[in-house]
Amino acid sequence: MDVTVIGCGYVGLVTGTCLASIGHTVRGVEKDVKKLRTLSDGHCPIFEPGLQELMQEHYAAGQLQFTENVRSAVRDAEVVFLAVGTPPKPDGTVDMSYLEAAGKEVCDALAENGDDYMVTIVIKSTVPAGTNRKLYKFLKEQTKAHVQVVSNPEFLREGSAVQDFLSPDRIVIGGESPEAFRIMRRLYDPIVKREEAFMTMNWESAELTKYAANAMLAARISFMNEMTVLCEHYGADIEEIRKGIGSDFRIGPAFLRAGCGYGGSCFPKDVAALEHISKAANYESLFVNAIQTVNKNQKRRFADKIIEKLGRPIQGATIAVWGLAFKADTDDIRESAAIDVIRHLIDKGAHVRAHDFKAMENMKAIFKEEVEWCHDPVSAAAGADAVALITDWPQYTTLPFRKIAATMNTPLIFDGRNCLHRDIMRETGFQYYPMGRPCIENSLRLKHKV
Ligand code: UGA
Repeated sequence: MDVTVIGCGYVGLVTGTCLASIGHTVRGVEKDVKKLRTLSDGHCPIFEPGLQELMQEHYAAGQLQFTENVRSAVRDAEVVFLAVGTPPKPDGTVDMSYLEAAGKEVCDALAENGDDYMVTIVIKSTVPAGTNRKLYKFLKEQTKAHVQVVSNPEFLREGSAVQDFLSPDRIVIGGESPEAFRIMRRLYDPIVKREEAFMTMNWESAELTKYAANAMLAARISFMNEMTVLCEHYGADIEEIRKGIGSDFRIGPAFLRAGCGYGGSCFPKDVAALEHISKAANYESLFVNAIQTVNKNQKRRFADKIIEKLGRPIQGATIAVWGLAFKADTDDIRESAAIDVIRHLIDKGAHVRAHDFKAMENMKAIFKEEVEWCHDPVSAAAGADAVALITDWPQYTTLPFRKIAATMNTPLIFDGRNCLHRDIMRETGFQYYPMGRPCIENSLRLKHKV
């Protein structure tokens, strides 16, 4: 099928590339001149495992093209995806300006088409309930063309987005037209493995499904994070509890890993948006508020634990931070716990050295000279008073810990993701503080008196 994707950001590029890989002809529209140049040179502007290779293969084959011209890109399209950003405004409500501008441009492009022209517009961006219906009404008023609108929220995780797209748990389509549902079913045919996985519902249900999914996942994490407080108080182990409850099929094992708080461009934004969506319905959501409060507190609790257990004043202490990205396998630092933790430590007078495998450049833009940037985790830890592990990069679990312990001022590790092995920490002489798990407390071995 002939597909146009407006917006070649993270969601648009993954969507366009994957649709090209299952046989469709895809035109990606990008307004940002620099990004368009990168794409037209055959390079992928974001880091996402597997995306660059897939993009280059289908770009070289002509199956995937890029342009800045909405009008020409929309002209022959059977399906037009709107995949522009819907970022949060400072007050947490959704900024719809990019989507409105894209909708208007598509509308202008369609205005010239007659009633023999048929197109399905798909809103891929995460939008508040009622947006698709509004767009449909607006388009109907503006053009004679036979236009359908469907909502098709995305459930891609950064780091596994290509795989998530090509092997989805489910595809959610919201709309009112059986004809549009059939077109979307045809579009996704190569990746629909079970008929039940292709779900159709009304616009508002699809729109809210997206927010509900992210809020539910964030709630599970916040619940487990709250449990870490009790675990630390009563001497329980959150990992045992995770296995104990995750094996109940009604609960399931996913998204129950406790840590120093969730981040990313989606959970914080969508949970905050849900709070505002509730307010707009004259309902104060206590539950959604609690998810956010627990997450904020957990980041702070991690930083405070470092200060409390350091064994020396934080003022003038050197803390090595391992991991800056909001999770492993990405260079994305948006809403990363590392931002809050580093800020708090610096404010309390600590000297912070930071390392990440991908996200260092992005974090430099925030902390600039305030932080010492290190090329590898071992040299970041050398001479430090403690290590704070914030991102679960698997590479951190296999480091030469005996050597690291020998070079640190104090062999002390705060594991914000519970990803290091307790036995290795004990054997290599570390004082070890995970989240909601029993700690290992040796007597501190300060090499240099403060
Ligand atoms: C999330 C959802 O998982 C996707 O389904 C959704 O499509 C996407 O948002 C979106 O709305 O676009 P993503 O933000 O890429 O995906 O990352 P996740 O893997 O969900 O992780 C989010 C945060 O939760 C990370 O900071 C991670 O460390 C944390 N997390 C995750 C935990 O603390 N514990 C867990 O058990 C899982």
